[in-house]
Amino acid sequence: MKPASIRKYRPFPAVSLPDRQWPNRIIDHAPRWCSVDLRDGNQALPQPMTVEEKLEFFDVLVRVGFKEIEVGFPSAADTEFNFLRRLIDENRIPEDVTIQVLVQTREHLIRRTFEAIAGARRAIVHIYNSTSPLQRRVTFGNASQDEIREIAAAGARLVKELVPSVPQTEVVLQYSPESFSDTELDFALECCNAVIDIWQPTPERKMIINLPDTVQWTTPNVHADMIEWMCRHLNRRDSLHVSLHTHNDRGTGTAATELGLMAGADRVEGTLFGNGERTGNLDIVNVALNLNSHGIATGLDFSDLPSLRAVYERVTRMSIPSRHPYVGELVFTAFSGSHQDAIKKGFDRRERELRDDPEVPWGVPYLTIDPQDVGRSYEAIIRINSQSGKGGVAYVLDHEHGFDLPKTMHPQVGQYIYGQADALSRELTNDEIRELFLQKFVNLESPMTLIDFEPSPGETKGEVACRATVRIGDQIFEGGGRGNGPINAFVHFLAEVGQKNFNVVDYRSHALRGGSDADSAAYVQLRRQDDGRLIWGCGVDSSIEMAGLRAVVSAWNLIHGEN
Ligand code: KIV
Ligand code: ZN
Repeated sequence: MKPASIRKYRPFPAVSLPDRQWPNRIIDHAPRWCSVDLRDGNQALPQPMTVEEKLEFFDVLVRVGFKEIEVGFPSAADTEFNFLRRLIDENRIPEDVTIQVLVQTREHLIRRTFEAIAGARRAIVHIYNSTSPLQRRVTFGNASQDEIREIAAAGARLVKELVPSVPQTEVVLQYSPESFSDTELDFALECCNAVIDIWQPTPERKMIINLPDTVQWTTPNVHADMIEWMCRHLNRRDSLHVSLHTHNDRGTGTAATELGLMAGADRVEGTLFGNGERTGNLDIVNVALNLNSHGIATGLDFSDLPSLRAVYERVTRMSIPSRHPYVGELVFTAFSGSHQDAIKKGFDRRERELRDDPEVPWGVPYLTIDPQDVGRSYEAIIRINSQSGKGGVAYVLDHEHGFDLPKTMHPQVGQYIYGQADALSRELTNDEIRELFLQKFVNLESPMTLIDFEPSPGETKGEVACRATVRIGDQIFEGGGRGNGPINAFVHFLAEVGQKNFNVVDYRSHALRGGSDADSAAYVQLRRQDDGRLIWGCGVDSSIEMAGLRAVVSAWNLIHGEN
């Protein structure tokens, strides 16, 4: 911002809490969760969900494992009312799921809300009124603190009076001082205590005090101080569930929630992927998976994020950014070569460790969780562009296409492939990487083509003799050779026909995973005699012997520079 703009703003006051306890606490268990997707999330959509979409989303939330689901603001509009009625009348609410309904502390709205929940087995009636000085001044025309506290108290009294009007429904009570995030703490406390004193919760029949970070005005540590202060001062703390409801204006919804839990809250409201007003509500998926990643069970099942994302994007018509934690398209992708190398080493090491200890803790550099645990696949982990390194290319060739390249071959192949990405100025797909590898390194036939190779037993034990024919350019070379194996015999044949200007340095082979069951891949490294340059070539064939010879010919062709 320009200085003139910055002058409009003021620091946010800190909380005086010199003996704050939350920084020393750790989160060792999950909170109770409440999804507000169908209310706070839905009200923030340019095109709200239809009743059918809400019903579908409700079922998804149930399947994920939410036990408390805010289903709407039934007194606000007929669609909201009708949706709730369908849930109740069509018996769609599972036994162990409690619906929650939101309502302002206004008489006619509260009465209508009780009509809406009639017949539900259990419902949380959530009332709220705005309490901050800004709201009191601007929205309520300079209302006094006494007037605002009385709005809360009057609403609480009416709710208490109406509870007996729904005898089939177990009503759980919830109060939010809306805009808690910029309300004076002692006044927020007065409003909450006024409601608590009217509802008189007990440890057996608790009520919920929800402390909304309606608009994030400050840093998460101040939010945590506010929560700890409230937890210390609220009446009947043992009869309350203290609930967090963060938004994300400063991009710190998750941090504020996590610190708020350390500060003593025991319940969290939020939405899938952070849908909600402005920058959104807390992303519950984020917090729950953060907990999972520390070994803490949450009761929520996010093991198939791609399916969840698909439903979410369809019914909300929102799209999830590529870098969104856990679910974004690129969050399990490494472009940088050094990251790719480390990830490959991590997976390889893990594979070895798992053989000895199936419970070995997760530990792959750059990946906080195993992508498979959220339904993401390993294939998408490494993508190749010009910033990529040898490890990434080798990883793709290995995990996607079954070529387990010798380590010393990685630089040669990596340099070539990412050079191609650079030339194209774009990322390469896994299939393109395979094609480039095949074209450049495998079964090369120019300038030398292997026309025939006939092995036969040699004169001594273990010796192999051969007759071979190759074409180089227009010339045909025929002859024989002997050696301690077919490759060696072929190399002696090349020497005999005057085509050996190299030494064989290394040879590897393996069955090719993913290709035809019968295929083998062989890799041969040659050292050019004139300048000592080392070059790998690869051969693929249904016979392991022929794969080796093809690898020699490929390397020879690479040495002779036409590829
Ligand atoms: O953000 C908020 O303050 C709310 C309240 C109504 C709980 O959504
Ligand atoms: Zn909200």
